Amino acid sequence: MREVKVGVVGTGFIGQVHLDILKDLKGVKIGGIVEADPARASRVCEKYGTKNYSNLKELRDAGVEAVYITTPNKTHFNLAMEAIELGFHVFCEKPMTISLQDAKELEKAVNEKGVVFQVGHNRRFAYVYKFMKEKIETGELRPYSFQIKMNRGELLNPPWVSDRSYTGGFLFESTLHLFDMMRFLFGDVARMYVLGKKSVYNDFDDWAIAVEMKNGIIGTFTSCAHASWMIPFERVEVYGEHKMLSNDEMEKVYYCKGLDKEVEIHDYMKVDFKEKWGYVEEDEKFIEAVRNGSSPVVTVTDGVKAIEIVDACYRAVEGGEGYVEF
Ligand SMILES: NC(=O)c1ccc[n+]([C@@H]2O[C@H](COP(=O)([O-])OP(=O)(O)OC[C@H]3O[C@@H](n4cnc5c(N)ncnc54)[C@H](O)[C@@H]3O)[C@@H](O)[C@H]2O)c1
Repeated sequence: MREVKVGVVGTGFIGQVHLDILKDLKGVKIGGIVEADPARASRVCEKYGTKNYSNLKELRDAGVEAVYITTPNKTHFNLAMEAIELGFHVFCEKPMTISLQDAKELEKAVNEKGVVFQVGHNRRFAYVYKFMKEKIETGELRPYSFQIKMNRGELLNPPWVSDRSYTGGFLFESTLHLFDMMRFLFGDVARMYVLGKKSVYNDFDDWAIAVEMKNGIIGTFTSCAHASWMIPFERVEVYGEHKMLSNDEMEKVYYCKGLDKEVEIHDYMKVDFKEKWGYVEEDEKFIEAVRNGSSPVVTVTDGVKAIEIVDACYRAVEGGEGYVEF
């Protein structure tokens, strides 16, 4: 098996989640990091037995062929463009960019350069959502409608999380995950009626959206940024013909098979969070694509489409009519 040498740019919370996984993956070598905070850099280098480089070019000169971009949202676009230009394969954490225009520019650059580019929509690999996807894809449950909620407890921690110039806005930071999930399970969006308001923070922190997908499935989507981390903070409910799927975050999935039938429940409480949140499989799949030169499982276009939904929501409430068609 050919060894893949990877680097990680930004080694805070999620950078270290990926480092923890990568260090144990067969045929992967951690070739270095780029971390702006010197104290953190030296702790991380000691922990993972690696070296801190000052920029992407140095990382490339050290023989690294694939990089993880796990810095704060607003830095993703420039770092990703530079990495692509240098010929790296890239795993970019969500949101890929904090504007639709940048997302499209990035998509163009990825296609022109032909590098592997995977976006960190980890929920696609989470056990609960893989279960739902399988029931829908095999036709066991044909969805007619759905209800989705994606809440945050606060916009206090870390302190920049309420700063829209940093995050792109609350929808980019948290809600985006389940916009991608909505596409993953039900296909592309046709139109939306969008309500949004600034309730507690100086950002649109309450959203109520009615959605119609291109295949006719309809649903509602709510997202609140000040819900106090009351669980479950994230849930998808899918309604079929006397059948239903739902989940409690990444912990449990429920499948009602019909009237008077048993409800199948899977409980992942005891599974390590890196597995049940999908991080392990998304990393395995990225490395596989790099090694084989194959298409990534979550593409740059998936990244663009999720950001298109966010962009449409903001347009709808900021001077728009509250209605958008795709
Ligand atoms: N997919 C997921 O479930 C998930 C979960 C958490 C975070 N994220 C995303 O990952 C990104 C990072 O989030 P986090 O919680 O790990 O943040 P964090 O603040 O814990 O870590 C960011 C790190 O990047 C470093 N950094 C900042 N600018 C840099 C630069 N230009 N070059 C090198 N290093 C730089 C910081 O010093 C810090 O160590 C965010 O975009 C966030 O939305 C995704």
